[in-house]
Amino acid sequence: MANSAPASSAATQATSVVVLDRGNNTTCTINLHGATVVSWRVNNQEQLFVSKLASFDGKKAIRGGIPFVFPQFGPWSFGPQHGFARVTRWSLEKPPERMHNGDVEAIFSLMDNEFTRSMWNYQFRITYRLILREKELHFHIGVYNPSKDLSFTFNMLLHTYLKVPDVRRCQITGLRGCTFIDKTREGAIYQEGREIVTIGEWTDRIYQHTPQEHVITNVVSGRKMRLHKYNFPDTVIWNPWIDQAREMSDFGDDEFPNMLCVESGHVSSPVILLPGTSFEASQILQIFECPKETEGDIELANKNKSIKNKQVRDGAIWKCFDLEIQ
Ligand code: BG6
Repeated sequence: MANSAPASSAATQATSVVVLDRGNNTTCTINLHGATVVSWRVNNQEQLFVSKLASFDGKKAIRGGIPFVFPQFGPWSFGPQHGFARVTRWSLEKPPERMHNGDVEAIFSLMDNEFTRSMWNYQFRITYRLILREKELHFHIGVYNPSKDLSFTFNMLLHTYLKVPDVRRCQITGLRGCTFIDKTREGAIYQEGREIVTIGEWTDRIYQHTPQEHVITNVVSGRKMRLHKYNFPDTVIWNPWIDQAREMSDFGDDEFPNMLCVESGHVSSPVILLPGTSFEASQILQIFECPKETEGDIELANKNKSIKNKQVRDGAIWKCFDLEIQ
């Protein structure tokens, strides 16, 4: 496999990982295998789910974090499911650098090579810029077609695995009125009637023409995550639930309650890129502050000795899941 990372060893693992460190235990770790974001810690709290059975052999896609899906979403007759970008070794174009405001950025890139051309015979260049802010992670993607005469089409998606205490308690906004392709029902198309979408079974849906923003509640520490996207018209919601989880060798049978994939993508229609032109898309993940009323709830619960687990960070109370299920 030309240009894919070699099999893992302590040494190759170490050089395959790039860390953005903003201070205050806020970091983002990117594995060059697929430019997969494998960790995003905010004040030492991990925001992304990575399976305990994930493989880091430099061959298989990493099960969790944020794999980069390109140029195909789903099964592909010319190559692996979800394309080659998540199983190819990327280059570090610009090592992590602190900006004037304290934020840290790094740029990754992927160009066509023997391996990619063996499946998809086009020249391309992707730049992937990540910026780590205090409570935000920014993703800016550019795809360039350097060819003088050939156009190409592609799908792209950021396959974000959010870490959640219990997926059944998560709520997703911004989907009402959107049509969706339900992959659990042979691709039938429906329209979402709910203002707030919750997950209680195997879910695999491509929501189309979604708004630029979704809010997901009850992520780590009972907080909210805002997902803001630009030039990604689709939002895929996925949780394998019990039976599908059992079929994945790199995913624990008991792990499905602790993850929720909310994926910004351009997948239900392809991007068409003419010679000499570029496509750009971006995403921002932002963690909300703990809402004020929650502090009151916590104090009350504390009085009743019903808090099992509470942490104080930077003067704010981080509500823990144990409290929520009282
Ligand atoms: C989701 C797809 O984006 O990714 C699902 O909608 C798929 O159909 C899931 O099962 C995981 O894919 P993979 O290739 O990482 O197992």
